[in-house]
Amino acid sequence: MRRPLIILILISLLFSCKKEEKKNTELIMYKQSEMAALMNTMYHVNLDLKEKILKGQIPDSFPERYLKIHTATLTDSTDRTSSFKQFSNLYIQNMKKVYTSSKDSLTTNFNQAVNSCIACHQTTCTGPIPRIKKLLIK
Ligand code: HEC
Repeated sequence: MRRPLIILILISLLFSCKKEEKKNTELIMYKQSEMAALMNTMYHVNLDLKEKILKGQIPDSFPERYLKIHTATLTDSTDRTSSFKQFSNLYIQNMKKVYTSSKDSLTTNFNQAVNSCIACHQTTCTGPIPRIKKLLIK
C-alpha cells in the first residue's frame, strides 16, 4: 500500500529539485557579476577535477569558458589592472597545462593552477582564499 506513495514522493522530489536548481542559478546570475559567476563555476569544476584526480582519472579537455576571465564584467571594473591581466594569463596557462599533463605530474600541475587562483586573489579579493585553498591536493 505505502510503497507507490513513497515512490511518487521521491519522483516529485527529484523533479522539484531540478526546478529549484534552475531557479537558483538564474537568481545567482542575475545578482552576481559575470566574473563572480565565472569564478563560482571555476570553483566547482575544479572541485570535481580534484576528486577525479584523486580517483586516478585523467581530465577531459580544457574548459574554453575559462577564457571569459579576459572579458567578463567585474563587480568593480577598476579591478582589471595590468597586474590582473598578467595573473589571468598565468592562471589560464597553468590551467591548460593541467589538461595536457601526464598522469605523474597531474597533481603538481593542478596545485600550481590552484596556486595561481590564490596568487591573483592575494592582490584583488582575499575573501575566498580559504575556500580556494581547499582545492589543493595534499
Ligand atoms: C586574475 C585574477 C583571478 C584569478 C586567476 C582567479 N580569481 Fe577568483 N576572483 C577574482 C576577482 C577580481 C573576484 C571578484 C569578482 C567580482 O566580484 O566581480 C573573484 C571572485 C571569486 C570568488 C567569489 C565569487 C562570488 O560569489 O562573489 C570565488 C569563489 C573565486 N573567485 C574563486 C576562484 C578560483 C577557484 C580560481 C581559480 C580556479 C580563481 N578564483 C581565479 C580574481 C581572480
